Amino acid sequence: MEPRNRSRIRLARTPVSKVDNSSSSYDAMPVIYDFEYPECVEDELDFWDAMLREYGGPGLELAVGTGRVAIPLAGRGHEVYGVDISQPMLDRAMSKRSTLHPATRSRLHFSRQDMRSFSFDLRFGVIYAPFNSLLLLTSEPDFTDCMSAVARHLKDRGVFVIEAFAMNEDDTIADSEALTYLDNEPESGATVTRRKDYSFDPKTKCALSELSFTLEHPNGVEEEIQFHYVLQLYEADELFARLRKHGFDIKQVYGNLRRDKHSPNSQSLIIICGRSDFIDGATLT
Ligand SMILES: C[S@@+](CC[C@H](N)C(=O)[O-])C[C@H]1O[C@@H](n2cnc3c(N)ncnc32)[C@H](O)[C@@H]1O
Repeated sequence: MEPRNRSRIRLARTPVSKVDNSSSSYDAMPVIYDFEYPECVEDELDFWDAMLREYGGPGLELAVGTGRVAIPLAGRGHEVYGVDISQPMLDRAMSKRSTLHPATRSRLHFSRQDMRSFSFDLRFGVIYAPFNSLLLLTSEPDFTDCMSAVARHLKDRGVFVIEAFAMNEDDTIADSEALTYLDNEPESGATVTRRKDYSFDPKTKCALSELSFTLEHPNGVEEEIQFHYVLQLYEADELFARLRKHGFDIKQVYGNLRRDKHSPNSQSLIIICGRSDFIDGATLT
């Protein structure tokens, strides 16, 4: 699925402040999402697998999407729950689930819930937000609500694990790009061309990505899929401060999924944190 060619193009830019993460933004995306981001393997899968082994289950994935991470984790024997607000993304996750071995299937639980307000009758050893999903919460109240829901659902020794972009200077530069994928989308056989327009608002540190996919189907029909998302970018210290403010202690920080030390040049910011009201076996009141 390597890009065949890349060319710089210029699309009409929408001011970042005029766009938010509408709940339906991902609704048109499930098939293309799986084409762009196949199920996780190797370092990525090993990392989330290790989190569940070290801290215990069950796991809860915030913004689980089409099950890219949750499904292979269940394949490794973990009990995994996942919430998402997009019904079409969840429908795709459910349809993939239905093809699995019954034992694996029984370990996967998807539900349509918002990561700001989810509710379960059980608590989790690991609640995790992979692939920058936490950055989709671009307002302070949204972040606060999500942190409260996470804190309510963590076991006493449970951890909240975040995988996010570590913001760097390149992220502040507006950019446009077009690429055509080498492989065709396997279900439709369509050739896929993606146009992406990126802009950044320095006042809010919000980054807007506007994507337009053109699918050229084998019968000559062209299909357009539009999609956008806004990410709240953070310097590492800003995100640490936010988490502490919401009652979490930072246990570990890594710069990638191989668990190398985080540095200013790291590509990712991976944070393992726990509730700060729980120290050495006692919940503080
Ligand atoms: C980048 S995808 C990540 C999917 C999956 N975690 C992965 O690693 O492939 C982001 C997902 O976040 C979901 N989402 C956006 N806002 C949400 C919210 N407030 N609560 C739950 N899910 C949300 C979208 O529907 C989408 O499926």
